[in-house]
Amino acid sequence: MRTTAELREGFLTFFESKGHKRHPSGSLVPPEWDHSTLLNSAGMQPLMPYFAGRETPPAPLLTTVQKVFRTPDIDEVGLDSFHLTFFEMLGNFSFGEYFKEGAIDFAWEFVFDHMRIDPDKFWVTVFGGDVELGLGEDEEAVRLWEAKGLPPERIVRLDRSHNFWSVGGPGPCGPDTELFYDRGEEVGCLRPECAPGCECERFLEFWNLVFMEYELHEDGTVTPLPKQNVDTGLGLERGAAVLQDVISVYETDGYQAIMDWIAAESGVAFGESEKATKAHRILADHGRGMTFLVGDGVVPSNEGRGYVLRRIIRRAVQQARTIGLDDLWRMTDGVAEQMGHWYPELVEHGERI
Ligand code: GLY
Repeated sequence: MRTTAELREGFLTFFESKGHKRHPSGSLVPPEWDHSTLLNSAGMQPLMPYFAGRETPPAPLLTTVQKVFRTPDIDEVGLDSFHLTFFEMLGNFSFGEYFKEGAIDFAWEFVFDHMRIDPDKFWVTVFGGDVELGLGEDEEAVRLWEAKGLPPERIVRLDRSHNFWSVGGPGPCGPDTELFYDRGEEVGCLRPECAPGCECERFLEFWNLVFMEYELHEDGTVTPLPKQNVDTGLGLERGAAVLQDVISVYETDGYQAIMDWIAAESGVAFGESEKATKAHRILADHGRGMTFLVGDGVVPSNEGRGYVLRRIIRRAVQQARTIGLDDLWRMTDGVAEQMGHWYPELVEHGERI
């Protein structure tokens, strides 16, 4: 397993072999009833009624690759090698079947037998507890990782802001455990205390296992959900960066067509200057994002998700100018060509895009 396509398909096939039903990606535009975000921001979001116990899932175990768009990260894109607004999220979901042990078992097998990650570069974080939520440290997750043979010093306990997940407001939520890849001291801050959770680029979080057993209410309290569930999110582009041992998601095979197009059309190479690096990153991310947003029916406007689209188009145009690039819209053809096989809506709505 090496390419982005192999990771996407390999993940879904692996979880199918473990009894999960392959379920299609929902639209980037959440359904009417979902007011939690403007755009779908996680693999679990279209599945929320199943987690909340309001609807019966098509199967008790599902696996998906979901299109997501994270609006809070718009301004982060370009500044580092891994923040994206638009990306694909792989996930395995258990509605009241397996819980912490099953999730960690599957992740361990996939990471070491399929992704073949170097065990010396593997770290995890776990929920360290939170007084306000009235929840203690996730001792069970610690014990399960240790039982797998992970050295205790590579299990880092972090607070609620890192290791307690909800979609952004009231709804299903729970403590999580995150899987990290150590990209080496040389890309980090070199501080002795540097570890997952550090702001520097050394440790890349690529998979989050959420133990979704609570519902978060408007007043900030949590109550147990009817069942103990699992929701996981493995960022496809970050996973590909780990497999291909490259520092930046923009250097993975999944971005090559768009990155090559930007370089060829502008005559400015990626990495040529700080300005060029930032421009290429923003153009590649926003180019994919705008293509997918229009593919799902969003039109530029002054409010709501239309404003998000307008904002990323404007940011892309500004960056294009810094490297002398015009005719930006042609970039969307390359995205549709590369991704249309998995997302036929890009081909179907090619003219509108
Ligand atoms: N739902 C888990 C995640 O998006 O990280």
